[in-house]
Formats: sequence, C-alpha cells, structure tokens
Amino acid sequence: MQYLKATGSKKNLTESEYYALIADLLELEEVRNLQNFRHHIMTNRFQHCLNVSYYNYKLCKALRLDAVSAARAGLLHDLYFYDTKEYTRSSPEVRHSKHHPEIALENAEKLLELNEKERDMIRNHMFPMTFALPKYAETYLITLVDKYCAVMEFMLPQPKRLLHYIRHKQQPEQI
Ligand SMILES: [Fe+2]
Ligand SMILES: [Fe+2]
Repeated sequence: MQYLKATGSKKNLTESEYYALIADLLELEEVRNLQNFRHHIMTNRFQHCLNVSYYNYKLCKALRLDAVSAARAGLLHDLYFYDTKEYTRSSPEVRHSKHHPEIALENAEKLLELNEKERDMIRNHMFPMTFALPKYAETYLITLVDKYCAVMEFMLPQPKRLLHYIRHKQQPEQI
C-alpha cells in the first residue's frame, strides 16, 4: 500500500510507526472489503475503521495506555458486512447499534487471535448502548473516539468528495 490517510489528517500513514502495527490487518481481504460499505453517509466503513484506529492509537499513546491494542481493535471494531439500513429494516427487534459489535467480534475472531483488551474494545465500543460495562480505560476511550470520528466524517467539509458523490452516486476511492 502506497498511501493511507486518516480523515482530518494530511499525514501519509504508511510512513509512520503506526502503520507497522496494523500492516498485517490491512492485508486481510475482509478488512479491505469494508471499502465496499458506505458508513456515516460520506465515507466508507474501511475509512471509518482506519480513522478510529489511528486516533485511538494517538490518544492511547499520549495517555501511556495500550496504543497497540487500541490501533488493532480500532481497525476491527466495525468488521461487519451488511448495509446498516437494510439490517434495521429486516430485523427491527434487534437494534443494529447493540448487535453489530458482537458480529464484528465474531468476524474478527475468525481471522486472528485477539487479546482480552482488543476483545473488550470491539465488544463494548457502543457503550452505553450495549449493556456490559467496559473493563479497560482503552475501551472507554474508543467509545469517545468512535463518536468523534463519526461526527468528523459527517461534518468535515470535503467539497471534492461531495461533488464526486453527487456526480457518480458513489464514494471516491479511499486507498
Ligand atoms: Fe460500531
Ligand atoms: Fe464505529
């Protein structure tokens, strides 16, 4: 991969120490397939997961927490493969917001071994919408980073991307 960028940052992440922590995950077909799902209207699920991974890593590193697990769990936290709107319509009795962390965890565990912190971050990233209390400080932080990224992805003025979307009815290529 030549170039990788988090929304809101100009840095090429392939040239940062962060990249080495997630490089193996970026090779996984399932992770790359997240590009095919729209997320938060103006981005795709891969870009959202990358954003959460990168900013979660930065925050945990600054606070001297487990930045490696934060980066890896961030990239996997929304590893599910259905359109959010379709899921809500087909299963109104089980809310997507509570259910998709379990699906993401199940999918991630099929691909690789996770540590306890990574599991907790993926399973409880929607807290307080999910019932269980997070066990780790990193999990509380990912709940905040996830929401911060969602707002940023939606609100950040990106006229080129918006124009591309209006013209082609699809998101521009992210990676
Ligand atoms: Fe999520
Ligand atoms: Fe998310």
